[in-house]
Amino acid sequence: MSIATAYAFPNIAFIKYWGNRDPQLNIPANGSISMNLDGLETRTQVLFDASLRQDEFILNGERQSGEGLQRVRAFLDHVRRMSGMELRARVQSENNYPTGVGVASSAAAFAALSLAASAAAGLDLDKAGLSRLARLGSGSACRSIPDGFVEWKAGSDHETSYAITIAPPDHWELTDCIAVVDTTPKNIGSSLGHRLAESSPLQAARLAGADQRLAACRQAILERDFEALAQVVELDSNLLHSVTMTCSPAIFYWQPATLRIIHAVLDMRARGVRACYTVDAGPNVHVICDRDAQPTVEGELSSLAQVEKIICAHPGSGARLIDR
Ligand code: DP6
Repeated sequence: MSIATAYAFPNIAFIKYWGNRDPQLNIPANGSISMNLDGLETRTQVLFDASLRQDEFILNGERQSGEGLQRVRAFLDHVRRMSGMELRARVQSENNYPTGVGVASSAAAFAALSLAASAAAGLDLDKAGLSRLARLGSGSACRSIPDGFVEWKAGSDHETSYAITIAPPDHWELTDCIAVVDTTPKNIGSSLGHRLAESSPLQAARLAGADQRLAACRQAILERDFEALAQVVELDSNLLHSVTMTCSPAIFYWQPATLRIIHAVLDMRARGVRACYTVDAGPNVHVICDRDAQPTVEGELSSLAQVEKIICAHPGSGARLIDR
């Protein structure tokens, strides 16, 4: 019997991952840059036990079946192949934040699971190795392994595709204020979205400019240049949604409330408030702002009737082991 527990935070992408070069290994069509979100935690315990006949997955106290369980089992098979461990496992996970709030819980989930499962199986992986492993569970999970501001180098195969820290969490006091407008589960998940991306005539143009946007975003972070960050983050988010709206079949993640908030953010920035927007595969809006601007941003967002709640997070660390 061997056991380990780890936690990890989700991340918000400033330059987004959309589309795979290799869908089996989640080798992305382009590199991406993100910030880990401190405080929104997934904590996962993995127990390999000879008395278990099958892998079990318990999420927030509820035994899982179906697709969720299948995804965890397929992931544990990677860990068993890598370690030679043959036992089945019980995976127990808790999220301290609600699902469906516009935060990709799969990133924190597979980052915490990579660390806990590999440690419990006796594998001593370095950060790059953990990031590669996490990518096999969910692409964006590879960015929740390293600390702070992170870049996922797209690479071209399993060995070369992993994420690294470009700046530690205390490098820049940014806040992500997530304006939640809808908590119902999205009907087109990111896995299908990635598969459909290539059917958009705009995906090629989006990919052609990705290296330039990555360089601009990296530089804006290193120089703490908010205006430059705002320009490239909003452009990149708009490009992703242009692709989703023009793929076949078309996917519309935005709702009227999404656009209402985008206008409110642009209006704030025109008045000198350091805030910009980015939207993932759902209708909720991540408003990235300077820590000093957080009270203004929270105040203005909460005055909008469409905003159900606001969740704020600061730059966070990468995945950590709690015990072995
Ligand atoms: C829009 O990493 O969630 O959030 O590998 O299918 O789990 P799977 O996809 P996932 O895709 C994330 C898409 C995104 C952009 C991003 O986080 O870069």
